[in-house]
Amino acid sequence: MILLSDLHKTLGSKPVLRGVTLEVARGETLAVIGGSGCGKTVLLRHIIGFFRPDQGRVVVDGTNLTSLDRATLMAFRRRIGMVFQGAALFDSMNVRDNVAFQLEEHRLKPPDEVEKIVRARVRSVGLKEDDLAKMPSELSGGMRKRAGLARALAVEPPPAVMLYDEPTTGLDPIMSDVIGDLILGMAKEFAVTSVVVTHDMALAYKVGNRIAMLHEGRVQQIGTPDEIRSTANPIVRQFIEGRSVGPIVPVG
Ligand SMILES: Nc1ncnc2c1ncn2[C@@H]1O[C@H](COP(=O)(O)OP(=O)(O)OP(=O)(O)O)[C@@H](O)[C@H]1O
Ligand SMILES: [Mg+2]
Repeated sequence: MILLSDLHKTLGSKPVLRGVTLEVARGETLAVIGGSGCGKTVLLRHIIGFFRPDQGRVVVDGTNLTSLDRATLMAFRRRIGMVFQGAALFDSMNVRDNVAFQLEEHRLKPPDEVEKIVRARVRSVGLKEDDLAKMPSELSGGMRKRAGLARALAVEPPPAVMLYDEPTTGLDPIMSDVIGDLILGMAKEFAVTSVVVTHDMALAYKVGNRIAMLHEGRVQQIGTPDEIRSTANPIVRQFIEGRSVGPIVPVG
């Protein structure tokens, strides 16, 4: 479903991706972990076609994104839902308008159908009818994340691919677990293929059919949650145990 082969990308003077190869099967959820700044968001941006690799291929559902012209790429993107790091709602719009945004922007559906889809998606993420009129500033962090999720899902047909960038950052463990349930629910309800970028190992274990760790521009290890939990790879061990990955410089 998603095939990344030998991706290279340098941004500024920094080689961020240095040969990333990954495959995500249809309906699978892949969790991607790795230290801050290692290129997780950059990787997601390649899958949605915001970035073009310097080298390598990005194939989503049989389409090679690197060969598409701008218009075709824009149309293709509508089949991919992305939940951005920090939810990224439009602050000047209420929840209903945020969720309806894509459907209205592309005039894909008649108004009564837009309303129906918006309500169904808002319900799917566990928000209430009363929340539709609320502005983002009136929502808690968890509600914002849910609204961001509903917005990413509000395309018709539902997205074939969902990309989540740090969906639980800033949430308490219980709300994080709820978001994890929602991600699993989405995967089931819509049979989507998902990539979940996270620092949150509890979430990675919960939602990932497999977990991949990015390190120094490459996939350090990929495996099932059990394989990652019991890994002998020192870099992965260090990360999942929450120890500093960098060299430790002794003081004095
Ligand atoms: N548009 C850009 N232009 C230049 N450099 C960029 C750009 N986007 C990202 N980078 C650089 O690429 C590297 C990887 O960034 P990225 O945002 O993918 O990290 P990340 O793994 O998502 O980190 P975090 O966990 O903190 O979100 C960083 O060094 C960053 O400064
Ligand atoms: Mg990031």
